[in-house]
Amino acid sequence: MAVHTINLIYLVSATLFMLGIKYLSSPRTAKMGNLLSMIGMAAAIGATLATPGIHGFTLIIIGVVIGTLIGGYAAIKVKMTAMPEMVALFNGCGGAASALVALAEFQGNSTGFDSFTLLTLLLSLIIGGLTFTGSVMAYAKLQGMVSTRPVTYPGQQVFNGVIVLATVALSWFLFQDPGNILVLSSITVLSLGLGVLAVLPIGGADMPVIICLLNAYSGLAVSMTGFALSNNALIITGSLVGASGIFLTKIMCDAMNRSLANVLFSAFGKVDKSLAATGEIPAGTMKGYEVEDVATILANAGSLIIVPGYGMAAAQAQHATRELADYLGEQGVEVRYAIHPVAGRMPGHMNVLLAEADVPYEQLFAMDDINDDFAATDVVLVIGANDVVNPAAKTNPSSPIYGMPVLDVEKARTVIVLKRSLNVGFAGIENELFSMDNTRMLFGDARASLQKLLAALKK
Ligand code: TAP
Repeated sequence: MAVHTINLIYLVSATLFMLGIKYLSSPRTAKMGNLLSMIGMAAAIGATLATPGIHGFTLIIIGVVIGTLIGGYAAIKVKMTAMPEMVALFNGCGGAASALVALAEFQGNSTGFDSFTLLTLLLSLIIGGLTFTGSVMAYAKLQGMVSTRPVTYPGQQVFNGVIVLATVALSWFLFQDPGNILVLSSITVLSLGLGVLAVLPIGGADMPVIICLLNAYSGLAVSMTGFALSNNALIITGSLVGASGIFLTKIMCDAMNRSLANVLFSAFGKVDKSLAATGEIPAGTMKGYEVEDVATILANAGSLIIVPGYGMAAAQAQHATRELADYLGEQGVEVRYAIHPVAGRMPGHMNVLLAEADVPYEQLFAMDDINDDFAATDVVLVIGANDVVNPAAKTNPSSPIYGMPVLDVEKARTVIVLKRSLNVGFAGIENELFSMDNTRMLFGDARASLQKLLAALKK
């Protein structure tokens, strides 16, 4: 196929990718976004295979078949709550692919590179390598195969800094002698090590942020490979992935009111009793209610706002939530959902689960759109949320979440909280909401509690 035809197809693919990303920004259009991106990717792969000089089709087809089977199986089988793990693995594959292409190029042409190609190949190898091991580490942490707590030791950041400097120094040597296998192997090993060392001190619950960052890295590595191979599709796709990954990382950090440096270096999530002491719950003021009492409150409500959090995902309570909401709606209660941007453990976590349970989109409200309405609401039902409804974020300057925007649930007439115990949430701090005068606690697994509530209401 002629080069200009191939470039034209790459341009069409890039446009489809951009439209795909745009459509993915709303659950309503997300399926279309996925479809457009798939068509774009298929076109880009087809054009690449039609490029003059491509050979070894048998191996390529075997690779495509194996990749398609694994990707398709994983996409069908993955549970919504395991999405971060899957994204981590796929990021890792992107990083590994970039690093392998760079290694293959070094092996095939050790002396004939110009400086720009050498630089882009090196970056592709280093960023790709650390993305691969960093993503595998993130996967292992999320799966609980490695401690989810931040792993820290004295001099850790200095040690990591030394490894970075050594990698830079060795890269300089490779510039002088591009055929030096020993230097190339050492750079490869150090980049692989860097990925592990960078993710070790980060707590399991910060992994979604890290996965977004690694996603950006994998995009960067891919676009570097694109520059080295003069492949426009790789340059454009890599830049898109890199830029959207960085934006997503920033959005998540902003919503948690933390800087990226704080996520990367503060070992957030390390057990620290002094943090847990902020906003201690005054003994004896907390009101634990029985299912029947909570059902009576719900039956008498005119308006209800449901606030889902990580516990709803952990309990897989999204269907039970919708069933209860539907029933109350049929009884004339005005039901809405308030979605905090970082409720759960990944971007859009609550939206995805509620969409899976067919909750109507028009009942879902973003925090900024519903926060002013809590004061005029009869009942708020908090389902497994903790940090995102913690008033300490507004009232306690010494709290680690001070300044994080939270849902003003305590302003409602009555707040009902479904959780299993008084355990802390992700930030590891107590929540004074649980002991406020207008709060009623219903202890138990969220799904079981919701099912019991519905049964009691139907009686
Ligand atoms: P959390 O503050 O983590 O609280 C979740 C609560 O759910 C826990 O207190 C837990 O209490 C309860 N729970 C767990 N399993 C349950 C079950 N089976 N049934 C009922 N309750 C259950 O959740 P949140 O309010 O959604 O806040 C999210 C936190 O994660 C924020 O601090 C946010 O910054 C952080 N974070 C979010 C993201 C994204 S992108 N969403 C990424 C990284 C970090 P019990 O153990 O007592 O039941």
